[in-house]
Amino acid sequence: MKRAKITIIGAGNVGATCAHWAAAKELGDLVLVDIVEGMPQGKALDLYEASPIENFDARITGTNGYEETAGSDVLIITSGIARKPGMSRDELLQTNVKIVAEVTAKAAEHSPDAVLIVVSNPLDAMVHTAWKVSGFPTNRVVGQAGVLDMARYCSFIAAEVGCSVEDVSALLMGGHGDDMVPLPRYTCVGGIPVGQLISAGKLEQIVTRTRNGGAEIVGLLKTGSAYYAPAAATIAMAESIIKDKRRVLPCAAHCDKEYGVGGYFVGVPCILGSNGVEKVIEVELDAKERELFAASVKHVKELCELAGKFLPG
Ligand code: NAI
Ligand code: 2OP
Repeated sequence: MKRAKITIIGAGNVGATCAHWAAAKELGDLVLVDIVEGMPQGKALDLYEASPIENFDARITGTNGYEETAGSDVLIITSGIARKPGMSRDELLQTNVKIVAEVTAKAAEHSPDAVLIVVSNPLDAMVHTAWKVSGFPTNRVVGQAGVLDMARYCSFIAAEVGCSVEDVSALLMGGHGDDMVPLPRYTCVGGIPVGQLISAGKLEQIVTRTRNGGAEIVGLLKTGSAYYAPAAATIAMAESIIKDKRRVLPCAAHCDKEYGVGGYFVGVPCILGSNGVEKVIEVELDAKERELFAASVKHVKELCELAGKFLPG
């Protein structure tokens, strides 16, 4: 069987860690692209030299161009600047919209049939940008944020209950900002509604910590933002696509009639398979949840309008 080909654009913290997780899972051949000369080549060679120790088979290429990316099944965009302490994700917009537009155009030209996973921030506006530039159908453009935010939320719940992370399942919706919407009503531990195990007050603290999860890591690292969990989240999505696992994951997917969003990418539960977003799942939300989701979507729309103003050409 032909191996999948995965191109990762931006070989910095998130991109290189994506390559690491993807290689460890033997998801396919990897191409790392970056503008810094020698760096993607060096990281690719270093990772390849780990393969006899970790026993994975993969061709791993580093490059500053796009010829080597041709025919990729999955394109992962992580290029751009990351935030520093005190910065919001939104402050990255002006710089990253140009970078994301440029790399998407080149990558899409060489891999017109790929599924595109966008990671660069501010996430929801960057997915919108990549979709416009690529000309890909909406199902083949998706953003990673919800899997990361959900993982943070689930890990805090597992730590509070004192149970395995494997037994926590949850849902989280909205944009990748401080107004994301974790949904305690859709959160269970071993099938038990979380409200039976954690007090409402403690749960509210966990929801707040989840919303601030990115800033918490930035505050500790001081020189950049999180990358282990973001990369693991991205590769979970890539794996579901490459293996057509059809996992149900919260992703930034194009919603038009769905949830009444009207043509924007926002975090919603999706089935992810070989065609990318196979289906957006519409869950029932109560009045409070609808209000929180609407506020988050409003913010996403404002960012997309702003991104449009900075879009080259
Ligand atoms: P980083 O600074 O470590 O890596 C970014 C890389 O992009 C650098 O190596 C840089 O040289 C490269 N780059 C810049 N312009 C380029 C271009 N035109 N072509 C190719 N490569 C280019 O940053 P890190 O930590 O890897 O974060 C990357 C992005 O992902 C940031 O925007 C960050 O905010 C975002 N992010 C998003 C998350 C999410 O959940 N959606 C989670 C974590 C990070
Ligand atoms: C995060 O949530 C930086 O968006 C990234 O960690």
